[in-house]
Amino acid sequence: MTLRTVHIKMNETLRLMENRKSVRTYIDKDITRDFKDKIIHAAMRAPTAGNMMLYTIIEIEDQDLKEKLAVSCDNQPFIAKSPFVLLFLADYQRWNDFFRVSKVPHVRPPEEGDLMLACCDALIAAQNAVIAAESMGIGSCYIGDILENHEYHKELFDLPDFALPITLVCFGYPNENYDTKKPAPRYPREFVHYKNSYKRLKSKDFLKMYKPVEDRYFSTGDFIEGAENIGQHFYIKKHSSDFMKEMNRSVRAALKYWKTDETEN
Ligand SMILES: Cc1cc2nc3c(=O)[nH]c(=O)nc-3n(C[C@H](O)[C@H](O)[C@H](O)COP(=O)(O)O)c2cc1C
Repeated sequence: MTLRTVHIKMNETLRLMENRKSVRTYIDKDITRDFKDKIIHAAMRAPTAGNMMLYTIIEIEDQDLKEKLAVSCDNQPFIAKSPFVLLFLADYQRWNDFFRVSKVPHVRPPEEGDLMLACCDALIAAQNAVIAAESMGIGSCYIGDILENHEYHKELFDLPDFALPITLVCFGYPNENYDTKKPAPRYPREFVHYKNSYKRLKSKDFLKMYKPVEDRYFSTGDFIEGAENIGQHFYIKKHSSDFMKEMNRSVRAALKYWKTDETEN
């Protein structure tokens, strides 16, 4: 049973989430300040660890910055065409600075667990923004490639050591095709939702799991060069790609600040 075949009575919120799709082509229409503010407000209403709000949202207004991001985030030109771009930072700098100005003796600088919590906060806030936008007819797309080129983004946005770009979200009104386009299929629920303990999947499970993907994209057996099946296709295209190499290098560079002995903030 897949998520898409579960028959339940839909309410407005469930229908919105069921039909949401990432939008990468925006019509030439501005988003009003009022709508932008509603999206930001919704982000800030998201649950947050200990109500600490371990994130910062930078609105990218400057067209030149958008153009730069369109290149630095693995060359995705639609970023520059989005009328509303939000950068979400996992931010422990604010608390760290607050502790210092509060003259807390021997402030413990943020560590890996603090970072994870801040990432959770930032991403949950981002998803609230996505759903709020959707409810106002505004589409969106996450840009994970903001994790690349850490040093460049740090300088571009004047980021302190403990403010890490975790995601970028582009917003904009979709074109008329949006409503007719089917939502992207998900893996069957049995491979994603377990009860009480983890289950390692076997070969036959993977065949079933990837059936929706196969039907949608690979019905003609059109794999990337060098690949004989979907697993090999994704390994070459995603896991061992140049952009993943860069992402891993970049995150490693960012993480050095979160280790007590190397921090000079
Ligand atoms: C963390 C994250 C990073 C993503 N990064 C990108 C990206 O860099 N470029 C892009 O076009 N889409 C990106 N996406 C959108 C996904 O490709 C999209 O959500 C997925 O294909 C499922 O499609 P749907 O959102 O229409 O259901 C990202 C999504 C997430 C959650």
